[in-house]
Amino acid sequence: MYIVAGMVRWAFPIKRCSAHPKKLGLLVAVFTLGYICIDRNIFFLDRVSSKLPRDILSVDSKYAGGSAKNADQKVDLYHSGVDEMHLSELSKGVTEKEVENMKQTVQYLTLDDIRDGQAESNTKKLDGASMCPEVEDNPNMKGPIPQAVLLIDNLKESEVASIHPELSPGGQWAPDDCKPRHKVAVIIPYRDRQSHLTRLLYFLIPILKRQKLDFRFIVTEQWGNDLFNKGRIMNAAFRLAERLGTDCVIFHDVDMFPQDDRNPYSCPPAPRHLGAFVSNLGYQLWYKEIVGGALAISMADYRAVNGYSNMYWAWGGEDDDMGKRILSLNYTIERPNPVTGRYSMLKHVKRKRTAPKLIYKLLEIAEQRVATDGLNETDKWNVVKMEVRPLYYHMYVDVLEVPEEWRGNGKES
Ligand SMILES: *[C@@H]1O[C@H](CO)[C@@H](O)[C@H](O)[C@H]1NC(C)=O
Ligand SMILES: *[C@@H]1O[C@H](CO)[C@@H](O)[C@H](O)[C@H]1NC(C)=O
Repeated sequence: MYIVAGMVRWAFPIKRCSAHPKKLGLLVAVFTLGYICIDRNIFFLDRVSSKLPRDILSVDSKYAGGSAKNADQKVDLYHSGVDEMHLSELSKGVTEKEVENMKQTVQYLTLDDIRDGQAESNTKKLDGASMCPEVEDNPNMKGPIPQAVLLIDNLKESEVASIHPELSPGGQWAPDDCKPRHKVAVIIPYRDRQSHLTRLLYFLIPILKRQKLDFRFIVTEQWGNDLFNKGRIMNAAFRLAERLGTDCVIFHDVDMFPQDDRNPYSCPPAPRHLGAFVSNLGYQLWYKEIVGGALAISMADYRAVNGYSNMYWAWGGEDDDMGKRILSLNYTIERPNPVTGRYSMLKHVKRKRTAPKLIYKLLEIAEQRVATDGLNETDKWNVVKMEVRPLYYHMYVDVLEVPEEWRGNGKES
C-alpha cells in the first residue's frame, strides 16, 4: 500500500561507522556511536530527527527519482546487507533468523497450552494500587525519541533480552506500581527482517513501559518461502492474542519506528491508525481508508470486521481492505496527533505488487466480503509451530496453497 506514495526526496550522506560497537554493551554502543563516529550527519540525525523528520531513514530507490541511485547507496547501511554478510561467514547456509533462534532458550507450545489468558496473566499484587494514568495524562512521557538506534544494524536479540531482565517470556511486562488500564498484544508480521525486528523490540519496550501498559509481543511468521499472505498470518496471531486474554491488538509492521513516545499504544475505543504519519509518505495521510503500518484495534472491533481478508497474496492490499471493512461498518478511524504520531520507516528492498489488477478487483468488492472472508474462516491457515522466546511469542503459520493467478510472472499488469 505504501507503494502508492513512495515519494521520497533525498537523503543525507550518512557514512557507516568504522568502529564496530558489537563488543561494547548495547547502551554503551548507543552512546559511543556518537563519539566513535564523529560524523556530523549522524550527530545531526540524532539531534534533529524529532524536530525535522526527513526521509533520511528511508530512501526508496524506485521512487526517489533521478538522484535515487546515489542516495540509495548512501543510506544503504539501513539495509541488512551487512548482517547478512557477517552471518554468512559465521554460518554458511543458515538464515539469520535461525542463528538468532539457536541462541535462545525456547519453550515450545501449542495453542491449547495457553488457556484464556489465565496462565499468562500478570500475577503481581496490586491490591490497593491506583489505576495507571492514560498515556495522554502520563507525566513520565518524554516526547521526541532519538532515532540513532536505528543505525545499529548488528544488534542481537540476546543483547536486547539481557538489558530487559524484567520482561517475562513472550516479552511480557506489566507495571507493578499501578493497575494497568490496557492489556495489549503487539502483533508483528515477520519475514526476513531480523535486524529490523531486533531494533523494533529494542525501541518499543521502553516506550510501552513508560506508557504503563500490560504488554506482550507476538511475532507471526509465514511457514515456508512461498508468496506472502499477511492477512492470514495476522488472523492467526489474533487467535493467540485471544488466548492470552488481551483487550486489544496492535498490528505493527517491523519497519515502523515511532518518533515520539506520546503516541498512545493503549487500547482505543475505535480502531486507531497509529501509523498515520510516516517518513516515506511525506508524513501525510493519502486516503481515508489507509490503516497500514501500525493499527490498534479492540478484540471486539476486530471480530466485528471479521479480521483481515485472507485473499491477498504477495504484497499489498490487505491493509486497504481492512480500512474499507472498518469504514463499511461506519466505525471511525482514530488517528494520532500529527506531531506526536510520526514514524520513521526503515529502508528495505521494495517488494513489487505481482498482481495489481487482482488487488484492485478485490478492493472494489471489499465491503461485500466482510462476512465471508476473514477471521471467521477456519480452513485458511494452520499454526505449524509456536514458541515462547524471551522477547516474544513466535508463531509459524502455514497459509496453504497459493492460487495460480497470483503468481504474476509479470504478464498480469
Ligand atoms: C452506515 O451508514 C449509512 C449511512 O448513514 C447507512 O446507510 C448504513 O446502513 C450504515 N451501515 C451500517 C453497517 O451501520
Ligand atoms: C462468521 O460466520 C458466521 C457463520 O457463517 C456468521 O454467522 C457470522 O456473522 C460471521 N461473523 C462475521 C463477523 O462476519
